[in-house]
Amino acid sequence: MSERYCVIGNPVAHSKSPAIHAAFAAQTGQHLVYERCLAPLDGFRATVAALAAAGCKGANVTVPFKLEAAALATALTARARAAGAVNTLTFLAGEIGGDNTDGAGLVADIVRNAAFAIRGQRVLLLGAGGAARGALLPLLAEQPAALVIANRTPASAAALADAFGSEGVPVTASTFAALAGPFDLIVNATSASLGGELPPVPATVFGTSTLALDMMYGNKPTLFMDFASAHGAIARDGLGMLVEQAAEAFALWRGVRPDTAPVLQQLRAPS
Ligand code: ATR
Repeated sequence: MSERYCVIGNPVAHSKSPAIHAAFAAQTGQHLVYERCLAPLDGFRATVAALAAAGCKGANVTVPFKLEAAALATALTARARAAGAVNTLTFLAGEIGGDNTDGAGLVADIVRNAAFAIRGQRVLLLGAGGAARGALLPLLAEQPAALVIANRTPASAAALADAFGSEGVPVTASTFAALAGPFDLIVNATSASLGGELPPVPATVFGTSTLALDMMYGNKPTLFMDFASAHGAIARDGLGMLVEQAAEAFALWRGVRPDTAPVLQQLRAPS
């Protein structure tokens, strides 16, 4: 019998996760059903309880429930604890496992799909919210030469730099205006693209070999991607990260690692 999984969010209708997991299941011969689950904004806990009681084996968690998922999980992985957010829940007898595969997905997309080695490079992380926090530990594990965090609210960037400054890589905070580039890798982890806005970075952060990745994706490049391209950088959207974080969750749940390349290619193909 097929085991059940889902993605919980609000909104969730736009989620590509069901298509991605269906493709992984077909490719690996795993029998599972993966659905969308719209939770009321004040009903995340009740939704999770109902899913677990109905025999669901696991769930991905998306906006705006990742912090609540971390609070709800009874056992957190180290990377979920560091992120303070959970995107992957596993329902076990009497226990809810919480993991965060977003940062690992980001790094896998950069290193494998974009063939960009982070080691020894100067990295700029834009934003200091949940998405930025989740990216930090996996990025630092790649041993960049230095990592700068820039945020609209400078105090949040400073707090993150303090919290992650002991990983053996110099981590500093900056305002957008004070950024001195160019950087080798820039990750836009702000939610600015969601609102059709551009984080106010000076154009000097981009060089001709800079990889500028926006965690967001859509039918067309984000403003940040257009801005980066216009200044000579190589722009990349967040679709590869989405597929890679899904693969990490799939491997956790099913014990089989899918090949992400054909799935990413399929998603990028014009429909
Ligand atoms: P997420 O879980 O997506 O990270 P979040 O925790 O609400 O969401 O964080 C949003 C991040 O995007 C923050 O770093 C926010 O900056 P502030 O800390 O100053 O609020 C950043 N952000 C949102 N809109 C932005 C914009 N238009 N320009 C620059 N930064 C923006």
